[in-house]
Amino acid sequence: MEKRKQLIKLVVSVLIIAAAALLLAGFFGGDLMYHLKNRDRIGPLTREDIAYLDVAAPNPTGSDGTANAADWAQTYPEIVATMGIVKDRNAYILDYLEQDPYLVNLYEGFGFAKEYGSARGHEYTLKDVANTARPHPTANCLTCKTPNFTKLVNDQGVGVYTMDFNEVLAKMEENVSCYNCHGNEAGSKGKLVVTHSYVTKALGENAAAIDPATLSCGQCHIEYYFTPEDKETMMPYSTVEAMTPEAILEYYDTMVLPDGTVGYADWVQPSTGTRLLKAQHPETETFLLGKHAGILNCADCHMPLEMSEDGTVYHSHELQSPLENETLLSTCAACHDEPDMTAFVRRIQERVTARETEVGNNLSALKDKLTEAVAENRLSEEKLNEIRKLHREAQWFFDFCYVENAEGAHNSDLAMRCLDTAQAKIDEALAALLSGAGVAAQ
Ligand code: HEC
Ligand code: HEC
Ligand code: HEC
Ligand code: HEC
Repeated sequence: MEKRKQLIKLVVSVLIIAAAALLLAGFFGGDLMYHLKNRDRIGPLTREDIAYLDVAAPNPTGSDGTANAADWAQTYPEIVATMGIVKDRNAYILDYLEQDPYLVNLYEGFGFAKEYGSARGHEYTLKDVANTARPHPTANCLTCKTPNFTKLVNDQGVGVYTMDFNEVLAKMEENVSCYNCHGNEAGSKGKLVVTHSYVTKALGENAAAIDPATLSCGQCHIEYYFTPEDKETMMPYSTVEAMTPEAILEYYDTMVLPDGTVGYADWVQPSTGTRLLKAQHPETETFLLGKHAGILNCADCHMPLEMSEDGTVYHSHELQSPLENETLLSTCAACHDEPDMTAFVRRIQERVTARETEVGNNLSALKDKLTEAVAENRLSEEKLNEIRKLHREAQWFFDFCYVENAEGAHNSDLAMRCLDTAQAKIDEALAALLSGAGVAAQ
């Protein structure tokens, strides 16, 4: 009897210790374990199949000291070759203004009303920035286009952002390339290095919370603004938690400008007088707030692992849609039980896009009514400003969804939340326009 009791005691203790160990592991390493476990079993090849090289950097031949793609061609022929590939899908520009004509009205008074085409592959960055009809008075537009600009900022400081665009453009040698994501350290087992200084400035130590293969893309595929003081490229947050459209709006709303006034605006719209914001391409924010954050990184879905004829396993550096690549598509099945992954994604995108068109047109109609009210001078300035504030907010939420390039695939909940918020603000503004209809101008 005594023996049985002792045995039970022993079993219970062992169980308690095991449970505590599991809890601790869950506490300290749970996320990581889940992360690795899932990442390792996605797709036919894994990162463990890569024979990472630890080799000295080549003598950089970029005239600014950057090791360029040609410099790495001997060491990493597959990576250099894939980086240069651009398939049809990423070679054309879709004219958004033609596809969604209401945009011309929404962006009135700003460069995007003149030209707004879809993004395309990394091989076109310099060509596209040089040819855009949007005005670019200063060199800061080159921030996300070429490693040579990144290096220039790192060498000479933020004064570079206000240099003459064409003068700086003439010195640029490569489209997005090795230095942007690896510095000159690609030889150190493909180490990823944050070279864009504003990322470090904005996030500081909080950057460590982001997977390097996501942060790497998050140097450019993000929402940003140009600081009013010196036109430096900057991100409007310092933590992952503050990457929501709500928190970013607050950041802009409460920013103290050099003249002492409060509230950042990208432009003041001529017809409505609204101080508007232009969202950029918040892929990283949208992804980090979504369901794959913490279990996958950008490379998992956009850079397939491939094997060359001699057996070298590497990440393809042709950044592509997972729906256009069989290897990437096959990795989805590790977690998704969908017979047709492409159709699954397209259904989400169609739902988001349809709502986008609806809200976009409603926003355009609101803008017309506000323009009318301003022109007729029939509302008090106070009332107008109340409506302008709603207009600014509605457009911000709409834009945050519209300009994100995955059209809902990265995070459909966030996309729908943005559009619903925009619609609610539009309704509120319209009601205010009506209720204020009788108020005489002061
Ligand atoms: C140095 C800045 C920079 C970095 C870093 C960067 N991108 Fe890009 N990316 C761009 C720019 C700019 C474009 C648009 C180019 C154009 O339209 O001319 C683009 C376009 C793309 C496109 C094509 C978009 C389309 O609609 O066809 C994909 C896909 C893409 N990037 C994925 C990634 C991924 C994944 C990463 C990280 C591994 C990454 N990018 C890192 C700047 C960058
Ligand atoms: C779970 C997989 C997954 C992850 C992780 C992921 N994406 Fe995507 N991404 C997609 C899908 C699906 C699309 C829609 C592709 C399409 O419409 O053909 C997409 C579209 C894009 C596009 C538009 C390009 C195009 O060809 O349509 C860009 C740019 C992009 N992603 C960048 C990123 C960045 C940057 C990250 C990391 C912050 C990231 N993605 C993480 C699945 C993913
Ligand atoms: C837009 C960002 C970006 C650019 C540009 C880029 N890389 Fe990478 N590179 C990555 C990412 C992301 C990974 C994958 C890291 C991971 O998740 O394992 C990677 C991985 C690697 C690796 C490790 C081996 C492998 O295949 O995973 C090497 C080596 C490498 N890159 C070399 C280069 C070279 C050389 C260039 C220029 C020709 C280059 N990279 C350009 C982002 C980039
Ligand atoms: C490591 C596991 C894992 C892998 C691999 C994975 N996903 Fe997912 N995915 C998830 C989880 C978990 C969810 C959330 C499911 C839910 O909430 O019902 C999700 C949701 C989604 C959604 C809906 C997102 C939204 O916000 O509506 C899309 C689209 C998606 N995945 C596409 C892909 C594609 C495309 C691939 C392959 C390129 C892929 N996923 C690979 C785990 C994964």
